[in-house]
Amino acid sequence: MTPTPLYLDCDTGIDDALALAYLLASPSAHLVGIGSVSGNVSAAVGAVNTLNLLELAGRPEIPVAVGAHDPLAGSFDGGAPHVHGANGIGGVELPASRTAVQQESAAQMLVRLAHAYPGELNVVAIGPLTNIALALRLEPRLPELVAGVTLMGGAVLVPGNITPVAEANIANDPEAAREVFAAPWNLTIVPLDVTMANVLEEEHRLELLASDKPVARALGEMLGYYYRFYEGIFGRACSAMHDPLAAAIALEAVNLRTAPVVRAEVDAGSGPGRGQTVCDLRGMHVGFPAQEGARCRVVLELEQDFAPHLVDVLLGRVPAGSGAVTAPESVPA
Ligand code: BDR
Ligand code: CA
Repeated sequence: MTPTPLYLDCDTGIDDALALAYLLASPSAHLVGIGSVSGNVSAAVGAVNTLNLLELAGRPEIPVAVGAHDPLAGSFDGGAPHVHGANGIGGVELPASRTAVQQESAAQMLVRLAHAYPGELNVVAIGPLTNIALALRLEPRLPELVAGVTLMGGAVLVPGNITPVAEANIANDPEAAREVFAAPWNLTIVPLDVTMANVLEEEHRLELLASDKPVARALGEMLGYYYRFYEGIFGRACSAMHDPLAAAIALEAVNLRTAPVVRAEVDAGSGPGRGQTVCDLRGMHVGFPAQEGARCRVVLELEQDFAPHLVDVLLGRVPAGSGAVTAPESVPA
């Protein structure tokens, strides 16, 4: 199997840490660069968390670039300490990496990597889309140069988690998201519809804590913090699995049950719909017939529960990207 060259854009963040660990554990992913962006924490803190996780995983050679501090319009709002902790990783103190961040910005790194791996690079975006929009502005040919973009973001048929209609990664920079959704590339979105339906339970956290792998144990500790936030939503100690699910879908490591390819755009206006991902699902009752101009694959439902696969990969029991086949086209519900 030839590993897929992959650029990860993240706001590390507890579930971002899960996604990074998942990708590092996968022989089918070749992480060639990581950019940070403000979201859960500032871009600078996110880069430090990423470097420290890479060090703990024994992969300090993977380059990390700091990305945008502020969204395209407005300024960084201070992040989500109530969800991810003041340091973004649930207060867990990781050994400090001695590796420095790259001189280039995250957007510059993405453009450089797209030229270095023409037609091959997969972009996985699990934070606000500021860096990706900036890269598009730097290199308008980016959509021709990359193989595809998979992003965690949006709320399609379910409520948002920041406003009644907006999910955090889109709500934190709707202008950037609007540009990214409008660009002519193969886009897969992994919205709250599917990430809130796939839950990591306390039994999974205990398995991570019992591991002899330092990264798995650190993730188990971080999840203790994350679970406290989600207890207020689900009524028990557990969490949604937003970002690792996007990583797994980018690697085609999970089977998709409902994933129509539709027209999609982001509301970047100033009304109550700001940050909404508006996807044309009007064909849902007749099996999602092909739509003219449709380019966005919207993952709404998986075939199987994601948690066992995630834990198996994090504990080294199975490699990510092995065994599963992703449905290539629209699949009726
Ligand atoms: C998304 O927002 C962030 O808090 C998470 O890391 C995830 O990327 C979920 O809405
Ligand atoms: Ca994230």
